[in-house]
Amino acid sequence: MSNSETAEPHIFKGLAGVPVDVTAISMVNSDTNSLLYRGYPVQQLAARCSVEQVALLLWDGELPSAERLTAFQVEERSNRALADSVRRAIDDLPVTTHPMDVCRTAVSIIGANDPDAESNDPQHNNRKARHLFAQLPAIVAYDQRRRHGLPLVEPRSDLNYTENFLYMTLGELPVPEVVDAFRISLVLYAEHSFNASTFTARVITSTLSDMYSAVTGAIGALKGALHGGANEAVMYTFDEIGTPDRVDAWLDDALAHKRKIMGFGHRVYKNGDSRVPTMRAAMVSMLERFHRPDLLEISTRLEAGMKERTGILPNVDYPTGPAYHVMGFDTATFTPIFVTARVIGWTAHIMEQTASNALIRPLSVYVGAPEREVPLSAEVSQVTKVTKVTE
Ligand code: COA
Repeated sequence: MSNSETAEPHIFKGLAGVPVDVTAISMVNSDTNSLLYRGYPVQQLAARCSVEQVALLLWDGELPSAERLTAFQVEERSNRALADSVRRAIDDLPVTTHPMDVCRTAVSIIGANDPDAESNDPQHNNRKARHLFAQLPAIVAYDQRRRHGLPLVEPRSDLNYTENFLYMTLGELPVPEVVDAFRISLVLYAEHSFNASTFTARVITSTLSDMYSAVTGAIGALKGALHGGANEAVMYTFDEIGTPDRVDAWLDDALAHKRKIMGFGHRVYKNGDSRVPTMRAAMVSMLERFHRPDLLEISTRLEAGMKERTGILPNVDYPTGPAYHVMGFDTATFTPIFVTARVIGWTAHIMEQTASNALIRPLSVYVGAPEREVPLSAEVSQVTKVTKVTE
């Protein structure tokens, strides 16, 4: 590839297929449809580990000892309550504010109140990562409740991270089966190498900006429907379809109009998303538990219809949408839930980027007008003259 901005190198549109750096945090293998967090298959982590264990694994590189885990749990439980400044900032936002914008704003307020916000010292960044992890469920839960005119539910320190998240949102603790399906979704969402939002966080970090700036930027990237916003878009699709008998006609029409079917396709996985089987099983258990055979049938028919017509397979957002719906989350809360989990991966990448930094600044190929001369009539003195005449 040429070093000059004026030469014409091959363009990798959307950086597709371009490795931009190394990472020791996770590995996506599209050939084997596998995803490893620090070497461990994500399916095994989803089957055996808490969100707290997975967070420490992603940050530290190793699964925690019992002692380390206990210390972290104590810290996390003591950091869950929203500071008055964050609560007031959320209260000041209209209830119509997009929940992802609420998250982004709340993270900014947390950063503004952190005396170490500007420091990229590893100790400070580790603490900030743990603090954001503990705070985000309270932000997401409170925002959903206030949209329904419901009061804030204070966190309970006798509950683990996943239980407490559901409790603060729903006002009661659901049965263990629901807690488990939710835990699985959070483990699967926690990390996924150089996806768009993580890359955004790394770009911001590469300028020597701070962790809060990088996380707010990442939230903005995750919001889009081609990325995290797909989980809520899946639910809007299901609403639009309405009943299982309408799936085929809806799909034919959508494809004829060249619509992207949300929850399908992936930039890296072309033979299936490694996370789908695990999340699909969790979704099926939720739809059965909440007696929604209609949603299960829509899901099954749409997936079969897409495979038959396009060969395109579902991604992880496809099963999470309906699962979150029956658990009691608003559709608008789905992508913020993704934030609460992915903040683990983002902050791990921010720390990795900081430890081995190089400014991320790619080249572009200029395709605009050739070099030309500015006309004399456009000179500032001429413009000023004209202005004066007009006066
Ligand atoms: N529905 C319909 N067609 C799709 C599709 C989808 N969900 N995903 C890809 N395609 C088609 C494209 O239209 C394109 O067809 P064409 O070659 O005839 O133009 C072809 O498949 C390649 O897609 P492209 O968008 O170029 O691939 P990509 O690697 O850039 O895109 C996504 C990956 C994720 C952006 C894309 O699959 C998508 O938009 N999916 C829906 C949003 C989504 O679920 N996002 C969450 C990702 S985890």
